[in-house]
Amino acid sequence: MAKLFEPYRLKSLALRNRVVMSPMCMYSVWAEDGVLNDFHATHLLSRAVGGAGLILVEMTDVDPDGRITVRDSGIWDGRHQEALARIAALVHAAGAAFGVQIAHAGRKAQSESLSPVAPSAIPFSDRYRVPHALSTDEVRRLVDRFRDGAARAVAAGVDVIELHAAHGYLLHQFMSRASNRREDVYGDPTRFGRDVILAAKSVMPPGMPLFMRVSGTEHSALGYGVDELVRMARVFQAAGVDLFDVSSGGNLPGDVSEFPGYQVPYAEAVAHGTGAPVMAVGRLEDYALAESVVAEGRANLVAIGRGMLLDPYWANSAALALGEHTLLPEQYHRAIPLDRR
Ligand SMILES: Cc1cc2nc3c(=O)[nH]c(=O)nc-3n(C[C@H](O)[C@H](O)[C@H](O)COP(=O)(O)O)c2cc1C
Repeated sequence: MAKLFEPYRLKSLALRNRVVMSPMCMYSVWAEDGVLNDFHATHLLSRAVGGAGLILVEMTDVDPDGRITVRDSGIWDGRHQEALARIAALVHAAGAAFGVQIAHAGRKAQSESLSPVAPSAIPFSDRYRVPHALSTDEVRRLVDRFRDGAARAVAAGVDVIELHAAHGYLLHQFMSRASNRREDVYGDPTRFGRDVILAAKSVMPPGMPLFMRVSGTEHSALGYGVDELVRMARVFQAAGVDLFDVSSGGNLPGDVSEFPGYQVPYAEAVAHGTGAPVMAVGRLEDYALAESVVAEGRANLVAIGRGMLLDPYWANSAALALGEHTLLPEQYHRAIPLDRR
């Protein structure tokens, strides 16, 4: 049996397989109010019908100014919770678990009407605005925003929450000396993350796991490398993170060459350094590669991003290619050879 299609359990989270839909911003909240709409419902439900074990909603922001663009998803009021609850029910009915990635864009807020904030008044690049350096009280209020966002996600019926501490967004900005030059308590690169983890956990049921997406390295001598990240991950694990989703980069401008499985070594380093389960991500859409990452114990879960934009039924396609039975719902079984149904 393909290991990729074995069930996975972490605390109260029970997944039918190890395939996760990676969180992906769709920039499609046309009403600009943060409320997920029919496009998002269809988009997320399609990947659940396609067989993924866990659907992670795109970066969903705890504050209006914490969006990258005004078309991003939000979780700062009750309307967001209602929209999320509707999608949670659809995804659950299709047999997948459902989670949301909660976040704040910090200095990467781009729409003109949004005000970028950050640990220090250092822009991401010369094409970005200089962010407002948050006061200590303002940082504390954002911790509360994360707590309230997590509470709304829980009330909406999610099975898991992921904190977005990667790709140069606010949680990551605090972790990096390239963006955090503070002299108060939040100058400690793990302090904001730790406070946010404790706040989120305070409103989550004890059995619900908390994932954290981290950038395993900043790909630059100006930022942290994987050893430093592992040391920070230990602090986050002690504060309550149950699984690390390991990506890379995003806090310093510059391109990195991507190749199949290019970020898996960072996931392995975090797993070895913390003992926590990990999710690998990044060019893992080749079915045999995704299977080998799990079968060789290099990661517990694999997240598929662009591969699922191309093929919403990626999980089903992978299952059939790896000799498994279909993951499609009963209504579609006539499309599948008899011995694979
Ligand atoms: C359109 C698009 C939007 C994305 N938005 C997010 C996001 O909201 N949160 C996040 O953590 N990563 C985001 N990513 C990164 C993906 O989740 C994933 O980590 C990355 O694409 C690498 O995986 P892949 O090679 O399977 O696509 C986005 C990627 C794409 C292509």
